[in-house]
Order: sequence, then C-alpha cells, then structure tokens
Amino acid sequence: MAKDCNVALIGQKFMGRAHSNAYAQARHFFPKTARRPVLHTIAGRNKPELEEFAQVWGWQHATTDLKDITNNKEIELVDIGTPNNMHREQSIMMLEAGKSVACEKPLAQNLAEAREMLAAARKAKKQQTFVWYNYRRCPAVALAHQMISGGKLGKIFHVRAVYLQGWASADIPLIWRFDKKVAGSGAHGDLSAHIIDMARFITGEELTEVSGAASATFVTERTLPTVGPTGLIAGGTKGGGKKGKVTVDDAIVFCGRMRGGGLATFEATRFAMGNQNNNCIEVNCEKGSVRFSFEDMNLLWWFDQTEGPRTAGWKRIMCTSAGNHPYAEAWWPDAHVLGYEHAFINQVADMMNALGGQKPVVPFADFADAYETQRVLEAAMLSAENRCAVKMADVK
Ligand SMILES: NC(=O)c1ccc[n+]([C@@H]2O[C@H](COP(=O)([O-])OP(=O)(O)OC[C@H]3O[C@@H](n4cnc5c(N)ncnc54)[C@H](O)[C@@H]3O)[C@@H](O)[C@H]2O)c1
Repeated sequence: MAKDCNVALIGQKFMGRAHSNAYAQARHFFPKTARRPVLHTIAGRNKPELEEFAQVWGWQHATTDLKDITNNKEIELVDIGTPNNMHREQSIMMLEAGKSVACEKPLAQNLAEAREMLAAARKAKKQQTFVWYNYRRCPAVALAHQMISGGKLGKIFHVRAVYLQGWASADIPLIWRFDKKVAGSGAHGDLSAHIIDMARFITGEELTEVSGAASATFVTERTLPTVGPTGLIAGGTKGGGKKGKVTVDDAIVFCGRMRGGGLATFEATRFAMGNQNNNCIEVNCEKGSVRFSFEDMNLLWWFDQTEGPRTAGWKRIMCTSAGNHPYAEAWWPDAHVLGYEHAFINQVADMMNALGGQKPVVPFADFADAYETQRVLEAAMLSAENRCAVKMADVK
C-alpha cells in the first residue's frame, strides 16, 4: 500500500467542498496512486462551522490557526481554497514551512503577487506546487490536449474561447467576488483565467501579444450582504438596505496572437444570461478542429479536415472509454457520464502520483505555469486600461 500523504485544506465553502470530496474519492477510485491522500486538517475562520464540516467530510482536525498547519510536521500538502487576496500570503507561508502547495486559481490577484509566489516556489526545492486549473482534467479537454500535442491537428489557426456565466443580475448582493480588494478582478481573474489556461494547455502554445481588450461593469452598486456567501457562488446570499460600490469588471473581451502565428479571442462574463457554466473553446487547425463546452463536459467534438467532403462532419466523441480516453478507466462503463467533481478527483490522483515521483496523466499548472496565465491576465488588463496592444515580452 502506498504511503499516506497528510493534507490540510484552508477554506471550507464552494472549493472547500469540491476539494474535500476529491481527496476522499481519490482514495476509492484511484487506489493505486503513488501516495494516498489523508484528510488531516481543515482550516478557516469559523470554528463551529469548521468542526461541523470536518465531521461531514471526514477531516481529522479543524482549526482557525494556520500555525497548527505550519508547525505540524505530519502535514505534507496544503491546499488553499480561500479567496484570491489570501493566495499569496498563505502559499508563501506554507512553502516556507516546508509544505507542498495546491493553490486555487487565479494564482494571485495580480502579477506582482504571482511573482512573489513563483520566487517562493523556486526557493522551495524539495516541494511541489499545483494550481487548480481543474478543467484540464475533464477527459475531453485532456484528449484535445493529447490530440494536438500528438500532431493530429497540425498548425493552429484560431483559438476561440469563451467563459459565459449569467448569475450576476442586479439583485445579487456585493459578495467578495465584486470587491477588488478581495478578488483582484471580476470575471477576468475568475473566468478569463480558466480560458487562458485552457488555450495554453490545449494548444501547447504561449501568447505573444494581447490586444483589443475592453471590459465593463454593468451593475456598479449592490446591496451589502447580510447572509453568505454560502458556498454556491452567489446562491443563498441575501442583501441589506445599504449599498456598496462594485470595484471589479463584470465582463471582458480581448484578442491574442499565439506563438505559432494563430489568432485567439477570449470573452469572459457573468452577464451572459441563459448561460450557466459555459466554459467553451474551439481550436481550428490545419488538419481539423476540436470543440469543448463544459455544459456537455463528457463530449469532445472533432472535425477531421483530412476526410473527404462526402463524409466529413463534426464527430461527437463520448470521452468515457476506458483505456482510450484519459482518466476513463478509473470511472464507469461507457457513457455512464462524469460531472463537475470528477476533474477535481482526477487532479488529486495526479497530485498524489506527482508527490510519489510519478508522472501525471496530463501536465499540471504548477506555480511557474500559472504565472504564465497570470502574465496574460495582466496583459489584457493593461490593454483594456490603455486601449493598446501589449507585447507579452514586455509583461514580466
Ligand atoms: N477551480 C475552479 O473552477 C474554481 C471555482 C470556484 C472558485 N475557485 C477559486 O477558489 C477560491 C475560493 O473560492 P470559493 O468559491 O470556494 O469561495 P467561498 O466564498 O465559497 O469560500 C471561501 C472560503 O475561504 C474562507 N476564508 C476566507 N478568508 C479566509 C482567511 N483569511 N483565512 C482562512 N479562511 C478564509 C471562507 O471562510 C470560506 O470558507 C477562489 O480563489 C476562487 O477563484 C475556483
């Protein structure tokens, strides 16, 4: 049996639940990982809530004092599931205490913070870092990455990436996601971060330039929250009489150039009413195209340009075939489909293998990789603020 890996998790709401489930389920569905996750300590700010959470999810200890983690030699991996303003401080604290760190995305509120985190990760030579760009581990996304890196699609012409949500109507109170001091940015850091990561991961190419960025805040004031957030983004929150200012973007669009000469467009919004979690990317290449939308996450669409026009058409690939599709052998029979939680569980399995010296199924975003996504986020902010094109070489 593989050696245990004691995990501590900070934050016990939305991502707290997704990550707790992932550590627990990885033990069952990936019993042969090089290390075995143990739900050691859950940490946060509210002791009674944490104690109840620990009971429900099977954490052995609950604490509001992060020194209980830094001082505990048993804990090897610290997972940071707190809002963006805590990522830098908590990651650096844990790396300096000798822990490996799995941090939520975006890596940081801005590039300056991300740079400090990267420096701390580089100093911590014995440890590993991971960032929760979980969509990489949807089997369909991992398959798209494998097809392109295996040369099946050829030269990349277009990346068309959108992340469309529609939950942020004017009646939603001013939760932390609308507050620049806590979130750093709005739809941009929250949603553009994912689609930039997806574009980089699927194509294997970096951006060389960002241009044409425009962002907007459609609802500029909201009622202050009296209840919540409860762990469902804005679900269950209630607002009081008083209003406060929204200090982040609600939506952003921007363009990019890829290293291989292709063009990319990105759109991220919380105001695409009718869309719920439509994280969607299409990549058009010399030998065909691939398309993914999270709302149908088990499917990868593939157009094979090398097929003659008589039979050519979009193929609907159900990415659940054990031995053929990434991660599928851990799960269910064909077309017994996967959901939101599975990409997180797949990531835990890969992290446990990496901590045991084995290769993940597909590459991780570690702090160095997530820093590259943060550079693109920064370039798009600069492009929007200054109404100009920004060369990636100038964003360090
Ligand atoms: N990977 C994804 O797809 C995905 C999805 C949603 C959120 N996120 C990211 O996860 C992070 C958390 O988001 P969430 O939706 O879980 O938020 P949330 O509001 O549901 O939960 C945040 C948790 O952090 C705790 N917390 C806040 N400040 C703290 C502090 N100073 N010390 C200790 N605990 C503190 C809160 O009490 C709460 O338990 C954010 O960075 C967000 O961008 C990622």
